[in-house]
Amino acid sequence: MSFRFLDLHHQRDDLCTDVLAGLAAHPKSIPPKYFYDESGCQLFEAICRQPEYTLTRTEHALMASRMPEIAAAIGAVDCIIEPGAGDCSKVRVLLDALHPSQLVVLDIAGHALAAAEPLAHDPPGLAVTALGMDFIHDLEAVLPYVSDGRRLIYYPGSSIGNFSPDEATALLKRFHQLAGSSGQLLIGFDLKKDPEQLHCAYNDAAGMTAAFNLNLLVRLNRELDANFDLARFRHYAFYNPWHSRIEMHLASLAEQTVIVANQHVHFDQGETLHTENSYKFHRDEFSAIAERAGWYRTGEWEQDGFAVQLYGVGADAFVHGASRSRSVIGRAENVNE
Ligand code: AVJ
Repeated sequence: MSFRFLDLHHQRDDLCTDVLAGLAAHPKSIPPKYFYDESGCQLFEAICRQPEYTLTRTEHALMASRMPEIAAAIGAVDCIIEPGAGDCSKVRVLLDALHPSQLVVLDIAGHALAAAEPLAHDPPGLAVTALGMDFIHDLEAVLPYVSDGRRLIYYPGSSIGNFSPDEATALLKRFHQLAGSSGQLLIGFDLKKDPEQLHCAYNDAAGMTAAFNLNLLVRLNRELDANFDLARFRHYAFYNPWHSRIEMHLASLAEQTVIVANQHVHFDQGETLHTENSYKFHRDEFSAIAERAGWYRTGEWEQDGFAVQLYGVGADAFVHGASRSRSVIGRAENVNE
């Protein structure tokens, strides 16, 4: 049993550079990874408890009820790697089912990874490595910390939905390299559904999503010496059916100039700062993205508009997958009918 935490952030993860570049662009945008300061992480956890935001609860229910099948499809695993692990609450059910010897959790919000420490005591004998890092650029830096053997990359929660199809392909290619020749990928994503239901999930009545979005400006005020007036920006989230994605924006309620890191940034009245995309997929559409990144689907499970899919690497997946996938996919489809 062991726990180690390492901070692998480097110069390239630069809030100031990224924010100034995003504010100079047309349309203005900031990458969603910058939501997750301490308040941002807490607000995200609050979103997950809102009645309208069912994604997290549905995935949890799916993983709990189908775990025997999922674990059987995965088989033996030595190391689980979870990018974007946050509060590390999702991986426990997999640890209990698969008994790997090593867990590696990665997150840009390094402070959240303290939550991985108890996992090193229960289940006993697990070596836990927590890496505070921006894995979008830097997955090669993870390799020295990962043991050889059969690796499973676990990417739950529809985090992949933050990336456009091309960006998602690029990220899944990097996951493919990290997984190695006997690697697998277990990934959860939100399915296309009633746009009204999606709209409500990102416009909850209690205002948690609005607070999460506006907290980005609070962070910029604090960390980049900015002077955003929160009363002059509004949370604006909607489903864009042409791109199959929720878009979150912060809309300027007036013509105004804001100072950010000593730069003047002009907003027209009604102009928006685009803060997040959250793509929704059809199951085969998602598989096409994963296959472009070199992954072969070996299993899939769906429940109430959420999907979990299992992938293997190249030829290996084909050989094992051929015998597995028939029964796994067959059963998943029966249940969904
Ligand atoms: C963590 C990216 C999956 O897109 O649903 C929730 C973030 N944003 N409400 C999502 C989020 C607004 C969430 N992901």
